[in-house]
Amino acid sequence: MKKDFLSIFDLSPEELKELIEISIKFKKGEIKERPLEGKMIALIFQKPSLRTRVTFERAIYDLGGKGVYLSPQDIQLGKRESVKDVAKNLDNWTDGIVARVFHHGILLELAEHSKHPVVNALSDLEHPCQILADYMTMYEISGKFNVNLAYIGDGNNVANSLLAATALLGGKFTIATPYEYEPNGYIVKKALELGVKFEIVRDPKEAVKDADFIYTDVWASMGQEAEREKRLKLFAPYQVNSELLKYAPSHVKVLHCLPAHRGEEITDEVLDGPHSVVLQESENRLHTEKAVLYRLFT
Ligand code: CP
Ligand code: NVA
Repeated sequence: MKKDFLSIFDLSPEELKELIEISIKFKKGEIKERPLEGKMIALIFQKPSLRTRVTFERAIYDLGGKGVYLSPQDIQLGKRESVKDVAKNLDNWTDGIVARVFHHGILLELAEHSKHPVVNALSDLEHPCQILADYMTMYEISGKFNVNLAYIGDGNNVANSLLAATALLGGKFTIATPYEYEPNGYIVKKALELGVKFEIVRDPKEAVKDADFIYTDVWASMGQEAEREKRLKLFAPYQVNSELLKYAPSHVKVLHCLPAHRGEEITDEVLDGPHSVVLQESENRLHTEKAVLYRLFT
């Protein structure tokens, strides 16, 4: 594995599969090593978090290390102090950085100036740690990596990383989204170069017709709050609800990275219903964070 984990494309297909296999071993309690013994990891968060922060703190603790959480007020990355200076100072005291940032470029800068590993805990471009847990969950359920995935809604950071992982793992990614909300052009180009089966449709019913899994995420991501009203109207036809599930195969399962805006991109009925696997997915965040740290620090 490379020094940093900033993008799904930092992994080869083999490395991605290996991370999921290691995660499954962690889940079964089969790995006892503690590669973070005596190490400290800085957790830089420019945005709120429940799952990512807690699973990383827990994973660091279970692997023998200690996390130091740095809130937006603490270091004011790029404002109180330059990204470069923060990276170089942290290098003196800590052994790695997990960072959630507004602009993906901040991660690239942290990685450039830190001699220790830097992990993307979500940026505007990607959310690779989330997608490890998503593919682990889909693998646990289906027994395969090359699944048919229908993504309904905004072509955001989560959609970008899912598309990238689908390209590495040989599945099919269909997105139902309005014009101009498709996944990032650079990610699409790289995924197509890898030969991904990729389709953009406007009708969610068409997207789910042969789906093994349906995925959705919020319509306005963190940092897009000003566009919320506009997006609520635009994405209204893209809700994952019981009516939509009627057009999908009966074995379909529904994923959501959470937090969910209940009644917007997904209904209570679906999120709490028999097709939903969101709690298995969020549990798996812990195991996949451990796998990432294990591979970077062993
Ligand atoms: N899915 C996810 O990343 O959740 P948090 O924003 O709570 O970390
Ligand atoms: N797309 C969402 C994901 C949150 C985990 C966001 O960036 O806010």
